[in-house]
Amino acid sequence: EIESKKQLIKENIRAYNDFPKPGIVFRDVFSILQNPELFSILRELLTFSAKSFEVKPDVIVGLDSRGFLFATLVALDLQVPFVPIRKKGKLPGPTKAASYTLEYGTDALEISTDAIGKGQNALIIDDLLGTGGTLQTACNLVKEVGGNISGCLLVIELKELNGKSKINYPVQSLVQY
Ligand code: PRP
Ligand code: ADE
Repeated sequence: EIESKKQLIKENIRAYNDFPKPGIVFRDVFSILQNPELFSILRELLTFSAKSFEVKPDVIVGLDSRGFLFATLVALDLQVPFVPIRKKGKLPGPTKAASYTLEYGTDALEISTDAIGKGQNALIIDDLLGTGGTLQTACNLVKEVGGNISGCLLVIELKELNGKSKINYPVQSLVQY
């Protein structure tokens, strides 16, 4: 039943060739959000997976911006705090930042230094794992502010980009291409 729900999600994520650059196949997770029935199924799958990590999360960390769509749902379902990692320059107060490369460019991410208590277990959630540059940077930032990492949860994993090899924590993805 879980597997058929994952299959349904996979079939309904629309792909666009040559966006945002030539050669990139863009997997548009927003196509799921257009259909409330599919969005509910995706929420159920994410929360089910989030509960399956060996180290139970004390906080959910979501990545700007598409990661926020899913991380907040799981934080509510688990009744734990939500912590944002934002694109650089958006967060008030004391922060740590790091730059990185992703499948189609470079960017920088930032976290509030007081967002996660020392030794708290964080589950990081994003929409997609490509090269892993984004997720690796998010893991480093969580560690830098004193958090432990329960693991990472993605809606989509692009297998041929081998992003998982960059991550030294448990990684789960719901659908793979
Ligand atoms: C996309 C996606 C992931 C990241 C994955 O984010 O949402 O966060 O790329 O790529 P990688 O594994 O190669 O690093 P993007 O920076 O486009 O931001 P958005 O969520 O604001 O659209
Ligand atoms: N982020 C990085 N690579 C991506 C892709 N191929 N589709 C959608 N989001 C992405």
